[in-house]
Amino acid sequence: MKKLIVGNWKMNTARAEAKALAQGLRTNLGSGNAAFDMVICPPAVWLADMADIAPLSLGAQDCHEADKGAFTGNIAAPMLKELGCSHVIVGHSERRQHHGESSALVKAKAENAMRHGLVPIICVGEGEADRTAGRHEQVVGQQLVESLPSSGVYVVAYEPIWAIGTGKTATAEDVRAMHAFIRNRIDHADKVAILYGGSVKAGNAREILHTDNVDGVLVGGASLSLEEFWAIAQAA
Ligand code: PGA
Repeated sequence: MKKLIVGNWKMNTARAEAKALAQGLRTNLGSGNAAFDMVICPPAVWLADMADIAPLSLGAQDCHEADKGAFTGNIAAPMLKELGCSHVIVGHSERRQHHGESSALVKAKAENAMRHGLVPIICVGEGEADRTAGRHEQVVGQQLVESLPSSGVYVVAYEPIWAIGTGKTATAEDVRAMHAFIRNRIDHADKVAILYGGSVKAGNAREILHTDNVDGVLVGGASLSLEEFWAIAQAA
């Protein structure tokens, strides 16, 4: 499969910056015969501005598990679909940590996203204490059991929390071992892309992207720079 390069802009960019970044990537991609697929996940309020960015694909950073209803401040999967999204991140560690999202909720969100024709990018990853104590496989294994739908098309992103936004990247050996572990625990695993995320930069992208069982990357901070994000994609 082609490598999947995903940019998670989180709660960053002014409207003009968001448009310029998307436009720059689109221009770089040209006719779309790249060796990789690229998805950008801007803040939800800018999604409508990005309706016409093919061959770049559009993703959201979260969705609600229900189709509609009295859920103030939330965004439903059918709304994202209508805006042209193909993907949606669910279960990012920042949602799990700051919004108390459980794996069961993440699974419900992923299932609803798939029902509406979106590909969920389901995030898992251990914290620093679990890594230090050697419990990382146990923690991630449990998250997989509880967060993954039993069938359907989805993407898994392994993002060790201690590597997100910290400049600390997992070693190639850590990534290789965890990605093999994840691959072994997924049904229809050959069809599931497993991304790595956590301080991916132009300088480490090549090694990460060419590690066994790494099908792409989920990039936060470095996806806010056109040059840096494009350099990461070129490493594919
Ligand atoms: P980072 O974030 O690249 O800034 O570490 C990755 C993510 O949280 O998806």
